[in-house]
Amino acid sequence: MEPLYREVERTLSTGSPAMTPAAIVEEAIRRFREEEWPEMKRQPDWVRTYVARVVVGEKDSLAMMCHIRDTFGHEAPSERDRRTLDAIIAQEEGHVAMFSALLLELGGQIPDQPKTWIPNTLISWASGCAIAARGEEIRLGEITHLLADNDVPEQVKQVLVGILREEEFHQRGFTRATDSYTLETVLPCYWENHGPPR
Ligand SMILES: [Fe+2]
Ligand SMILES: [Fe+2]
Repeated sequence: MEPLYREVERTLSTGSPAMTPAAIVEEAIRRFREEEWPEMKRQPDWVRTYVARVVVGEKDSLAMMCHIRDTFGHEAPSERDRRTLDAIIAQEEGHVAMFSALLLELGGQIPDQPKTWIPNTLISWASGCAIAARGEEIRLGEITHLLADNDVPEQVKQVLVGILREEEFHQRGFTRATDSYTLETVLPCYWENHGPPR
């Protein structure tokens, strides 16, 4: 059995009753809406702080995706899935560029990027794509919430609208590139160890 599944089984047998992936995604979006976002908006410089956080988040997911491509690319089930990942990586590079430009326009500074951390649940093409698919799902929930918030400046919303369709494409692409067993098992294990994927 692959180490990932041993870890999942250990987590599930020793931890509290495991949440389903759908419940985890819902809980992560709820936390964002009810806790993290109101907390962000209490900061005096929240627009710039938020955009800086997105720059770091987009760079992190880009690094994770490059790691999946470079380390596990040979495990991709089809050439189509490999090409999809290449297309997603190119779009994430665009997101980093768009949010960095927005941050500079707002008068902010590009944050120093700490070395990207690669989760220990990322041990195969399938687990990487499954974590990424769930991460994109959570990201879509966050973007939808921000687009409905009247306090978010139009300048920021325009960039969010610009990336929304691409993030939807990423969610579908990663879901197709993995398998249903991994999609169902990897997230409870990841959540138990690290919290929500971003
Ligand atoms: Fe992105
Ligand atoms: Fe994405």
